[in-house]
Amino acid sequence: MSDTTHEYAYLDNGDGTQVLPEVLEAMLPYFTESYGNPASLHQLGLAAEEALDEARESLATSLGCAASELVFTSSATESNNLALAGLRAVNPDKKHLIISPIEHSSVRNLAKHWAKKGFLELTELEVDDEGRVNPESLKQALRPDTLAVSIIHGNNEIGTIQDIETLGAICREAEVPLHIDAAQTLGKIPLNLHELPVDLASFNAHKLHGPKGVGALYIRKRVKIRRQFEGGPQEGNVRPGTENVPAIVGFAKAAEIAVRDMDKVTAHVNDLTQKLADGLMAIPHVRLNGPAINSSERLPGNLNLTFKYIEGEAILMSLNYQGVYVSSGSACSSRALTPSHVLTSIGLLHEEAHGSIRFTLSRLNTEADVTKAIEVTKAAVERLRAMTAFIPEEHSERESEHATTFYKKKND
Ligand SMILES: Cc1ncc(COP(=O)(O)O)c(C=O)c1O
Repeated sequence: MSDTTHEYAYLDNGDGTQVLPEVLEAMLPYFTESYGNPASLHQLGLAAEEALDEARESLATSLGCAASELVFTSSATESNNLALAGLRAVNPDKKHLIISPIEHSSVRNLAKHWAKKGFLELTELEVDDEGRVNPESLKQALRPDTLAVSIIHGNNEIGTIQDIETLGAICREAEVPLHIDAAQTLGKIPLNLHELPVDLASFNAHKLHGPKGVGALYIRKRVKIRRQFEGGPQEGNVRPGTENVPAIVGFAKAAEIAVRDMDKVTAHVNDLTQKLADGLMAIPHVRLNGPAINSSERLPGNLNLTFKYIEGEAILMSLNYQGVYVSSGSACSSRALTPSHVLTSIGLLHEEAHGSIRFTLSRLNTEADVTKAIEVTKAAVERLRAMTAFIPEEHSERESEHATTFYKKKND
């Protein structure tokens, strides 16, 4: 689906994507021609305000909500923080928060910080070995003083898509607001916010071929939150600061294109992901992390694998030298030496979590990218394993068989 050929294979689209030419084109006039501040009352300001209104309407259509329910922010990180801190500010008597153990750091670190400071009690729900939240554990965790439940919709590391209908229905019954972090799902799976039992939802643009540094928060009508910093009346008084008009225009355009092309892109990405998985799972001692690839329970294009007996960082570096760009764990933790909390939460041992690599594909990837990634990864794994003293010989056959069975089972 791409007419651009690269010397490298970019398989890190879960971290960030290339801005599409159509998106860039839509943004450019708001840097150079209609560059006014949308709050200004002259012609250039009004033109910027009009673009902002149109972008909000367009994004609302892509998301299945009303334009008045969207607030633009700088990122999904900000949206997540604003949702939870904003709710907490208007509900000081609610002293309990529920999250999953596989949240992005922007939810997880905030929640842990509050718990550490004694501001509230934190419950982390159970997930199964593929990262699905157990609805029973949610039912049991809810309390009269629960402020909110915050769940990652599509997990950025292992691709697990949560059953938000079921989890949301449980929250509705208890009259507790549900916030979802949908940074990875917008544009990848159909979303209709008015049909989903959610009260707040966070998004950003750079996962779907839009620009970096722009996000949005959906706040269902009648849900009250308080702004987290003081300033002007922008964004319905919820998020002060002059809006980043070019980025917002690009965000809306990227979402429109992603929704428009979703079926075609999903088929393309699924096909490539399957080929990549087939090639890489043929390497001995490889394990798939998360739900079956190309199933409705996993983000399209997400492939997270553990290469036993080697460090993910060593594979990543080796692939980088050969022009194959991937992640080990999530972007924010890929420079840290602690194992991914997502992988350990689904039961991986520390050494297995350390040996994990995430490949994330997008509409712009090609068969050539996949072929290159398979060749380079196979060679890297062989080379690195040849330097490893402790591959247990007697386990080789058995584990290889186990890995193959495991993989087959997941893809039946
Ligand atoms: C699920 C999820 N939530 C939040 C974020 C943070 O997004 P941003 O980089 O826009 O702050 C990311 C991006 O890494 C993500 O994947």
